[in-house]
Amino acid sequence: MTSTFPDISISTERLVLRPFEEPDLDALAEMMNDELVVAWSTVPHPYTKDHARAWITELAPAERVEGRGIVFAVTEFLTQRIVGIVHLQHTDWRIRSSELAYVVAPWARGEGYATEAALAAAQWLFQDQKFERLELRTAADNTASQQVAQKIGCISEGVLRNAWIVRARGGDGAWTDVRTDIIVWSLLPEDLAGIGEQLAESGGFTLYTDWN
Ligand SMILES: CC(C)(COP(=O)(O)OP(=O)(O)OC[C@H]1O[C@@H](n2cnc3c(N)ncnc32)[C@H](O)[C@@H]1OP(=O)(O)O)[C@@H](O)C(=O)NCCC(=O)NCCS
Repeated sequence: MTSTFPDISISTERLVLRPFEEPDLDALAEMMNDELVVAWSTVPHPYTKDHARAWITELAPAERVEGRGIVFAVTEFLTQRIVGIVHLQHTDWRIRSSELAYVVAPWARGEGYATEAALAAAQWLFQDQKFERLELRTAADNTASQQVAQKIGCISEGVLRNAWIVRARGGDGAWTDVRTDIIVWSLLPEDLAGIGEQLAESGGFTLYTDWN
């Protein structure tokens, strides 16, 4: 029998992480065409409404149902707007380990949303699902993503040389593939201890996470 994550929502102080729904289509397509998303992720480009529809109706649900992980649309609790995506992928059920990826829409960046959403997913994974390891992989030059990894308490484990391909704009403005190193980060349940206090002290949000 394939292990799967339950079909749930997670609430934080400012965010709700929930499954994608068809009305999210336009917001998703817009977010995935952003420059930084094209640069650092492997999503198709240009990202069309058909891509968004396939993600919402087929690909994202299949991640959960087929046991590979779970995809959350990250929404602002107050406005209900889509601010990002949190994706647990490449889940190993015997090791109880999964890999975390995230995107935040350009207009919502710099507010700590990626940090808040990633921490909520990690807390749920460790406390509710009894996982023992969360892994993150960031391209060597993706500073914002590395900041998020550090803020949630991840430990950097090393560099995978030439292990990934990102996209950069060439002289003519067209996107080209560029080979890059990857930094591997991990978070274990004990790494989360004390992170809530650190974030609150640095003027961030309080650590409140709930799921159902
Ligand atoms: C990475 C990403 C999800 C961060 O989202 P976010 O909601 O802005 O993240 P947060 O606000 O929680 O934290 C971002 C941190 O990076 C810092 N940062 C942002 N851009 C930076 C840059 N170019 N150089 C250095 N630091 C940067 C911010 O200052 C902040 O740190 P601080 O709180 O210490 O000031 C967002 O930039 C994004 O969607 N990027 C494109 C997709 C992507 O790269 N995904 C990750 C793939 S591994």
